[in-house]
Amino acid sequence: MNEMSPRPNNIDAFWMPYSANRAYKSEPRMLARAEGMYYYTNDNREVPDGTAGLWCCNAGHGRREITEAIQRQAATMDFAPTFNMGHPLAFQAAAKLAEITPDGLDRIFFTNSGSEAADTALKIALAYHRARGQAQRVRLIGRERGYHGVGFGGMSVGGIGANRKQFGALLPYVDHLPHTHNLAANAFSRGQPAHGAELADALEGLVALHGDTIAAVMAEPLAGSTGVLVPPVDYLRRLRALCDKHGILLIFDEVITGFGRLGANFGSEALGVVPDLLTMAKGLTNAAVPMGAVAVHERIYQAIVEGAPAGIELFHGYTYSGHPLASAAAIAMMDLHRAENLPGRAREMAPYFEDAVHGLRDLPNVIDVRNLGLVAGIELAPRAGKPSDRAMRVFHRCFDAGVLIRTTGDIVALSPPLVMERAHMDRIVETLADAVRAEAA
Ligand SMILES: Cc1ncc(COP(=O)(O)O)c(C=O)c1O
Repeated sequence: MNEMSPRPNNIDAFWMPYSANRAYKSEPRMLARAEGMYYYTNDNREVPDGTAGLWCCNAGHGRREITEAIQRQAATMDFAPTFNMGHPLAFQAAAKLAEITPDGLDRIFFTNSGSEAADTALKIALAYHRARGQAQRVRLIGRERGYHGVGFGGMSVGGIGANRKQFGALLPYVDHLPHTHNLAANAFSRGQPAHGAELADALEGLVALHGDTIAAVMAEPLAGSTGVLVPPVDYLRRLRALCDKHGILLIFDEVITGFGRLGANFGSEALGVVPDLLTMAKGLTNAAVPMGAVAVHERIYQAIVEGAPAGIELFHGYTYSGHPLASAAAIAMMDLHRAENLPGRAREMAPYFEDAVHGLRDLPNVIDVRNLGLVAGIELAPRAGKPSDRAMRVFHRCFDAGVLIRTTGDIVALSPPLVMERAHMDRIVETLADAVRAEAA
C-alpha cells in the first residue's frame, strides 16, 4: 500500500495470528477499548471479559498504576540494552518476581513472550547437563496436547498435531508423555480429577527406551490451550518423583497458571509440586507490554554460570530481554498482585465460579465441565463432520450478546480477570447458557 494513499478501514494487510483470516475478515468483530472487567466495542457496547484477554489481564484492564509506570519510563528512558550493560528496572523487576516464585527458583531470565520463555527454558536445561559433563542428555520430553508456544522448541515439545503438521521435521530427539484427558473416568469433576495419576509412570517407559539421554520434561501444570485439562490428583507429584529418580529436569510452563490464576502465586504452589525451571508471560505485566520470563533454580544457574570460563556464560538472549517499559510494567503489576492479593481473590471467588460453571452441565451437548481456581472448560459434543463448528458459533453468539469467551476445538475455556465479581460471572454464564441452547441442533 502506498503511504500517500491510505485506504481507510483496510483490514487486509494484517495477517492475523492463529485465526481464520477469511472468515474473520468477512465478518470482523472489533474491540475498541477496555477498562476493569469490560471490553467496549466500536459502537460502545460493554462486553464483560470472560477470558482476561487471552489468559492475560489478571488484574483487570487499564490499570492506572501500570499505565503510569509505563508512561514514566517511556519519558525517562525508552530503551536500554541488557547485553553486557544494564538499567535498574530490569534488576528490580527480576528481584520482585523472585519474591513470589517458588523457593529456590530465584534466577530470572527475561524474554518477550511465552514462546520465547519455553525455548529459553529448554536451552537452559540442555546447557545445564552439558555444564555438568552429561552432554548425552539431549532429549526433550513433552506431553500430548501440551502447548508451549510457537518457537521450534516449544512447538516440537508441544503435543498439538495441528500446530506441527505444516512445519516439517521439527526438533529431533523429542518424545511425548500421554495426555491426562479421560472423559469416561473423570467427566464433570470439580477440581482435580480422581483418575489418572498413573499416567505419569509413562516416563519410566521413555527412560527404558532412551536411557540417560533425557534432559528435561516440560509440562503445563494445567494444560490450558487444548481445552483446560486439569491434572489428576497426585499426577504432578509422581512426575516430579520420576524426574528426580532419573536425573531429569522438570520444567513447568506456567504461562497461564501463573500470577494467581489457580489461587496461589503459581500453579506450582497451588498444586504443591516445585519444578526446576518455570516459564511465565501474560500476567507478568498484566499484558500491558509483552514480557515473558523463566525462573531458574539457583543450582542450575550456578552450574552454568560458575562452571563457565570467563566471558559470556550462556549464548542466548533477546534484544528486548528486560526491556525498560516491560520491566516498569512488571514492577507495577507485582505491586498490584501483592497489594490486592490477587491469588487470594481468585481463591475466594473459586467456589462461586465452580458452582456457576457446573450449573451448565445439563444443557444440550455439554459432555463435560471441569475447573480449577478461576479456570473452567466446558466441553461440547462436536457436530457430526464439523469439528469446532458448534463452539465457534457459541463464541460468536456470546460476543454478539455482549460477552467475550474463548473456545478451542469444541471446548469453551473461561478464565476471567481475577478481580471478577459474582455479578460478572452470572452475566457470563447466563449468556453462555443461552448461546449453548441456541446451538442445540
Ligand atoms: C502454556 C503456554 N505456553 C506458552 C504460550 C505461548 O505464549 P506466547 O503466545 O506469549 O508466545 C502459551 C500461550 O497461550 C501458553 O498457554
